Amino acid sequence: MYSKPKKIGSIEIKNRFIRSATYEGMATEEGYVTDQHVELYKTLAKGGVGLIITGYSYIQESGKAFDKQMGVNKDEYIPGLSRIAETVHKNGDNCKVALQIAHCGRQSRFLENTIAPSALEEKLTRKIPREMTREEIRDTVDAFSQAIRRAKEAGFDAVQLHGAHGYIITQFLSPYINKRTDDYGGSIENRTRFLEEIYNKSVELVGKEFPIFIKMNGVDFIEGGTTISESTEVAKRLENIGYAAIEVSAGIWEVAKLKKKDLGWKPTFLPESRIFIGTMNEPAYNLAYAKEFKRVLDIPVILIGGINSLDLVEQILTNESADFVSFSRPLIREPDLPNRWMKGTGNQKVDCIFCNGCLATTVTPGLRCAKLHESSAGN
Ligand SMILES: Cc1cc2nc3c(=O)[nH]c(=O)nc-3n(C[C@H](O)[C@H](O)[C@H](O)COP(=O)(O)O)c2cc1C
Repeated sequence: MYSKPKKIGSIEIKNRFIRSATYEGMATEEGYVTDQHVELYKTLAKGGVGLIITGYSYIQESGKAFDKQMGVNKDEYIPGLSRIAETVHKNGDNCKVALQIAHCGRQSRFLENTIAPSALEEKLTRKIPREMTREEIRDTVDAFSQAIRRAKEAGFDAVQLHGAHGYIITQFLSPYINKRTDDYGGSIENRTRFLEEIYNKSVELVGKEFPIFIKMNGVDFIEGGTTISESTEVAKRLENIGYAAIEVSAGIWEVAKLKKKDLGWKPTFLPESRIFIGTMNEPAYNLAYAKEFKRVLDIPVILIGGINSLDLVEQILTNESADFVSFSRPLIREPDLPNRWMKGTGNQKVDCIFCNGCLATTVTPGLRCAKLHESSAGN
């Protein structure tokens, strides 16, 4: 089942394994792609995955997350970005690649002054963002669509909007964060308007054939935030608007302030990347949400989060709980995991122990498995 091709919009993905977006921390201070990126994506493409989603790139300076993040907010980034697309196509035996694009809004730790749909304190960074004017919302919609045009021009096969984990798209969608009283707030229709405008504007630039898909939250895990009944309704709207697929994740950063007793699982920073799967947290922890999305959607559903064995992959796909499975941390540890599984060699389990050491390495020089690094440093 996992080696059976399936389409996302107009493009065929050669198998059901996706590399989920993973911030690299490898760009120059000015946001340009480096040789380090090219090496990373070459290794991933050779590892057998069907679709690679890059780490998030910023669509506006006001939405930047880190100093070594890739930019996609100017045409001058296109030649660097095209090196990633070319590398994947050259080395990946029909591997496809999507650029992930994002704006952090109130969740930027890097910027002093943040903006968001509403001026509500972000309890982790303790920053109060400035409420976006309608003109600023229009500019951000425009910036998302221009970023999508650049991704297409750079040779990417698709684009994924980062609509999960509390960034600006979540901020529009979430009733906990979005307190606007104009036509971007209130009803589900209004809170989805931002995404509707981005899609419609982008299609004018790139056409309907270029797949635009999204990662979004099944739930926010915050009282007053998005619930599964709301998120599935939003997802159906997005399908009708034209989005090509949905990757289902969960949580906003403020969840890290909550207690295990309130959630039933142990929140750590970052809550979307739960720690120690199999011991402290359950495998495939977003499965219940993906199943609900599958129930209402015709477009493909991608499941992310704590998938730790091939048996589990088979179960998810056979039961049609999701159409694709995606991996972030397991592929930092073992970029050739899909090939290893498809060749039937080695362990059914992933080698990654989900210790989250990789999260610390991205803010130092580039992405790597802290455990592997530790053991090779000891040799
Ligand atoms: C080092 C690191 C960087 C990440 N960067 C991104 C990112 O740029 N965009 C995104 O949507 N998710 C990002 N994530 C979250 C992952 O894509 C994924 O949702 C989460 O880690 C759960 O999947 P996993 O259990 O397979 O790691 C990142 C996770 C890690 C560990």
